[in-house]
Formats: sequence, C-alpha cells, structure tokens
Amino acid sequence: MSVAETQAFYGRWARAYDWLCRLLPGLGGLRGAAADALALSPGDTVVDLGCGTGANLPHLRERVGSGGRVVGVDLTPGMLAEAERRVEREGWENVHLVRGDAANPPVDDVDAVLGSFVVGMLDDPASAVERWTDCLNPDGRVAVLEAGRSNHGVASGLNRAFDAFVAAGAPGDRGDASGRDDSPSRRLDANIDAARDALAANTELTRDERRVGGFVRVVAGRSTV
Ligand SMILES: C[S@@+](CC[C@H](N)C(=O)[O-])C[C@H]1O[C@@H](n2cnc3c(N)ncnc32)[C@H](O)[C@@H]1O
Repeated sequence: MSVAETQAFYGRWARAYDWLCRLLPGLGGLRGAAADALALSPGDTVVDLGCGTGANLPHLRERVGSGGRVVGVDLTPGMLAEAERRVEREGWENVHLVRGDAANPPVDDVDAVLGSFVVGMLDDPASAVERWTDCLNPDGRVAVLEAGRSNHGVASGLNRAFDAFVAAGAPGDRGDASGRDDSPSRRLDANIDAARDALAANTELTRDERRVGGFVRVVAGRSTV
C-alpha cells in the first residue's frame, strides 16, 4: 500500500484506534511480552517503529527508566498527534516522536528496535528488518509483535473470521476475505514469515513464539556483530 493510503487510513481512524487499543483485553500483556523480549536495561535507547498512537511507549519507558530514551517513529501525522498527547499527558521528557519511514529508519546506534503490528504493512519486510538490525549497537535486540492466521488445527473457523477482519481493515485493499492465497490475511502471514526469517538470518533468535491460540506471534533476536 502507498504512503498516501496509509496516512489517509490511519489519519482518519487515529482516535478510534487509540480507543480500541485501550479496550482490547489482553493487548497490554502482549505489548509487555514484546517489550520483555527486548531485554531492556535502564538507560537503554529503544525505538518503536510504526509507533502509532504510542500504546507501546509506557511499556518501553518503564523498562529504560528516566535515564533511557524512547523514540517513536511513524508515517502518519494523525497517529503521531495522538502519541504526542500521551507523552504530554504523562510528562515524559525522554520520549521523542519522529515522522519517518519504518522501512528506512531515521535512527542509528540504538540498543533495541520494536515493530508491533507494522511489518505486515511493509512492501519488503525482509529488507526493512535487515535495516533494523543495521541500526543496532553491538548486542542490540529487535522484537516483532504481530497478529496472523493461527496454525492451530482447531482454529480454522476462527481463521475465516480473522481473514474477514483483516480484509475489512486493510488500507487500500478490500480483498475478498475468502482465504485464497492472495487474500490480505495470507499476504500478512507471508510478510510476518519474511520478517521472522530476516531476523533469523541477521540475529541470534531469542524468541519465536505464538500466543492467543496461535494468532499472535512474538519474534525477537539479538545482534551478533
Ligand atoms: C496497526 S498500526 C500499529 C501501531 C502501533 N505499533 C501499535 O502497536 O498499536 C500501524 C501503524 O504503522 C504505521 N505505518 C505503516 N507503514 C509505515 C511505515 N512504512 N513507516 C512508519 N510507519 C508506518 C501506520 O501509520 C500506523 O500508525
């Protein structure tokens, strides 16, 4: 999808997206698990790529403390405006928001990178994740949190519901929700697999797990250079 489509879609839904993030049960725990996978220490610098309305920021800020630094990067001004409101409300002086492209992050020498619910939207997730690993300090970490089709045998009916959910919410792509190989949810899965494989190729994998009946994936790796 194009930058303009992404900005138009998320710009329109920014306020509602923020509410949804607050209301969905269990989502905070998944964000915490992704932040844990980054093995952050006080004083670290961590970047949240495709940070949206900033729902990960409290989890990251809590782990790096007031002496660390959190940078949120997103393409969509409306999403960044919601994140900015959150930062001002909390009075966080070490959380910075930047408009930029997660496929070509405007950062360097960082201790950790998080991408949550964003690799599925990138045209070339493998190249993007490889660039994420290039931004890391020695021993730096990357984590990806994503929702995809479940690989559990009993979930086939729920997978059809997931297909319809993804097709309805795909910016610029309404698909047919039939579960065919070119459906938005299949392409989402292919993107998540590509991101996972790029992490495996460029880092030492420290986490590769499925949660919530197989629908949620947390993958993380540690730089070996
Ligand atoms: C589904 S939301 C996820 C937001 C947030 N990471 C979360 O976990 O709630 C996807 C976000 O990625 C942003 N996005 C999509 N493509 C991007 C890109 N290439 N660079 C930066 N942000 C991007 C959108 O603007 C949107 O805010």
